[in-house]
Amino acid sequence: MYIHSDGPVTVRNMKETPEDCSFAGRLAIEAFRSKFVHVTSERSIPTVIKCSEKSQYRQDPVFYQRNFIAEYNGEKAGLMMLKYNGDPEERDNDAWNALGCCDTLGLCCLGICLSSSVSKGKCYLDHICVDERFRGKGIGKVLMTVGENEARRNGCRSIYLYVSSTNRAKNLYERQGYRVKGEESCCCFIYCCTGEKVCFI
Ligand SMILES: CC(C)(COP(=O)(O)OP(=O)(O)OC[C@H]1O[C@@H](n2cnc3c(N)ncnc32)[C@H](O)[C@@H]1OP(=O)(O)O)[C@@H](O)C(=O)NCCC(=O)NCCS
Repeated sequence: MYIHSDGPVTVRNMKETPEDCSFAGRLAIEAFRSKFVHVTSERSIPTVIKCSEKSQYRQDPVFYQRNFIAEYNGEKAGLMMLKYNGDPEERDNDAWNALGCCDTLGLCCLGICLSSSVSKGKCYLDHICVDERFRGKGIGKVLMTVGENEARRNGCRSIYLYVSSTNRAKNLYERQGYRVKGEESCCCFIYCCTGEKVCFI
């Protein structure tokens, strides 16, 4: 069922199908490739993508309600994940076993840095990304509008995200009405794990 359908862009919940799992698992790595290279290595990326694709299966049903896929003229193009207070943790379904110790450790550190406990009444936009081929066509804007409507529907009064001070996506968020609430200088651990020096919330 579509949550948004207007013009070339449609948005729907992710399903546990090979097509959706493969798309979501791949894009979630490719769109943030530099972060994953930073904590693993360029050589490890194909394995990281395979593991990420596998990790999309056998998750709690809530996981598929929180993940949204945008299609552009019927082609899968974008992905967004929302989180709310009390959502179940993602299941560790042995998907990442193919990685060596160093890569696993790097990914664990990144996971610690990027995890956020969500307060009641708030919605956390965990990630939003659009396939490179489809950027600049308004898909990110549609996904964000869907996210805001979903947050409202779930009784939230605010929605928030973290963005690196150097990420151009900040323009999109500001146009969408988001305001910087705080600036965090990343401590040495976060800098080591993400490669970011400053991020905005
Ligand atoms: C950010 C992103 C989701 C926007 O999707 P989109 O469909 O291109 O967005 P729209 O067409 O609705 O809006 C265009 C805006 O997207 C942002 N954008 C476009 N290309 C981008 C890129 N390569 N990297 C980061 N942001 C980008 C810009 O804010 C742009 O506005 P601008 O031209 O005034 O700077 C998409 O570019 C992306 O996946 N970027 C890489 C992943 C990422 O950085 N995600 C945000 C993490 S906080």
